[in-house]
Amino acid sequence: MCGIVAYVGSGEAAPILLAGLERLEYRGYDSAGLAIQNGQGLELRRVAGRIEGLNRVVAENPVAGSAGIAHTRWATHGPPTEANAHPHIDTAGEIAVVHNGIIENADLLREQLIRRGHQFRSDTDSEVLAHLISEQKVPPLQLAVARALRLVEGTFGIAVISANEPGRIVCARRGSPLMIGLGRGAIYAASDASAILPYTRRVLYLDDGEMAVFDATGCDIVCMEALTKVDKPIQEIEWDLQEAERGGYSHFMLKEIYEQPETIAQTMRGRILPGSTGVRLGGLRDVAPALRDAKRVIFTACGTSWHAAAIGANLLEELCRVPATVEYASEWRYRNPVLEEGTLVIGVSQSGETADTLAAIELARERGCTTLGIVNTVGSSVARLTDAGVYLHCGPEIGVASTKAFTSQVTAMALFALCMADKRGVLSEQEVCGWIDALQALPRQVEEVLEQAEEIEALAQRLLSHDNFLYLGRGYSYPVALEGALKLKEISYVHAEGFSAAEMKHGPIALIDENMPVVVVAPRDATYAKVKSNMQEVKARGGRLIAVTTHPNGVAELADEVLFVPHTKDGLLPILTSIPLQLLAYHIGVLRECDVDKPRNLAKSVTVE
Ligand code: G6P
Repeated sequence: MCGIVAYVGSGEAAPILLAGLERLEYRGYDSAGLAIQNGQGLELRRVAGRIEGLNRVVAENPVAGSAGIAHTRWATHGPPTEANAHPHIDTAGEIAVVHNGIIENADLLREQLIRRGHQFRSDTDSEVLAHLISEQKVPPLQLAVARALRLVEGTFGIAVISANEPGRIVCARRGSPLMIGLGRGAIYAASDASAILPYTRRVLYLDDGEMAVFDATGCDIVCMEALTKVDKPIQEIEWDLQEAERGGYSHFMLKEIYEQPETIAQTMRGRILPGSTGVRLGGLRDVAPALRDAKRVIFTACGTSWHAAAIGANLLEELCRVPATVEYASEWRYRNPVLEEGTLVIGVSQSGETADTLAAIELARERGCTTLGIVNTVGSSVARLTDAGVYLHCGPEIGVASTKAFTSQVTAMALFALCMADKRGVLSEQEVCGWIDALQALPRQVEEVLEQAEEIEALAQRLLSHDNFLYLGRGYSYPVALEGALKLKEISYVHAEGFSAAEMKHGPIALIDENMPVVVVAPRDATYAKVKSNMQEVKARGGRLIAVTTHPNGVAELADEVLFVPHTKDGLLPILTSIPLQLLAYHIGVLRECDVDKPRNLAKSVTVE
């Protein structure tokens, strides 16, 4: 989710790279850097923090040269420091690399490289690439890159320069986007069209397994495995700059909804052990005894993260047989809660900066609890304050209403529950395999859900005249109902309430008539038969029923509108059932001409009480 820019031409590289980074900054910006070939060797400039800091450093200490690579980082491995900023170099400082993606076998490669005398300067997984490439010792650079990448597991989009091959840049892709821009007397590479659009619209898109080898005069696309040239059509980008930032989608929220097959996969990447035998969460290594011995788990969070945490608590009870509850951080922090020895407190936060969640974690620390964080932003306050944690790795979320972070939070909690169950020895190998198979099927299943986008848009149109909605669900679907209602409120300013379907008869049922759409999350899970009865109660009162369910089902004939999701384990269903509700809220918001990316009165990160 970081940003890459590269340039070779007749002009000065630094200003072009800096301008490109600025246009990529929206993708994440905890540190930035560039490396330029200046004829004698490589010159590096890097900073922790935003691009304006890098601009200042380059202004104070200019760097000349007409070929270079640059990067803006959204941390995955290691805190956002200057040492962890890209580009990374090999021991001799002759190879510089910028990298997007995650190297899954980085720990192993790093150990081997250190044994062979390489000196590491950062905590990143990316640095292994610079050392591996330099170790190949085979000019031309593309051969060294291809050989090094054969040793790497995981995903990458990279750009590489060598002090010994002036004017040449090599890029390679597996899983992280990269495109080559063909200018006049200059060639660009970028992870995202917005960085190169001001210079050219003619691009070559790299596919997985391909490298681009270029200098100012031309570019070859080469198959990494066979090292043969690939014929690629030149394509014209038709988007304007703003559209390019959103990857061609009309809003960041929609882009982020569509990213979910990939972001869910990213949350799992490198964490599922080969052969589906278990889960490895590196960030929990030091707290294994606390996971094994915990007597109780309390999740604390706000907003959408609270909904994900409610699902997490259910997952922990089911998989680990440990008492687990969820608390609104804002309430819990002022309640003087009873915290016995052996209580594990888990703060859940996309941003890692929510003031109430931070205060709740502080409270737990003061009372001597072990604290964990489930956080998206590496190096954020929650990540620093807690004893250990799990990162989401779903990339920066720009839409104020959380979508991809929610599904990654639930994914991370399922991984966490499996990890904790393993420490406590409460699941059989067969059960673990069943969960892992189900997790691995999710990205494909999310794609299937997204294929119904047009139907959901049409449904939004049909529901447009209504000003009040009820969302119902039970068990794992109860937090999904709350999240569905919250999404609709946030995005479209339509009044919506989420309730446990069972609680409906204790109040909300009084509201039901033909003007009240009732969205019921009713997949075939442990609570299905009960929810079906609740639906009958709605039907009997003339309510308009919209069901989100799985095949085969018996609710289709009851409901006025039905949206289907594929089946999975009960505890993973929220990942699938929440997505149609995200799309429904999005389309109603757009049809009502609301600013869906920046809803009124809301903030992405609430750093005040
Ligand atoms: C704000 C955002 C929500 C988010 C909540 C908690 O209200 O608008 O989308 O769920 O804060 O944020 P966190 O960063 O802690 O997950």
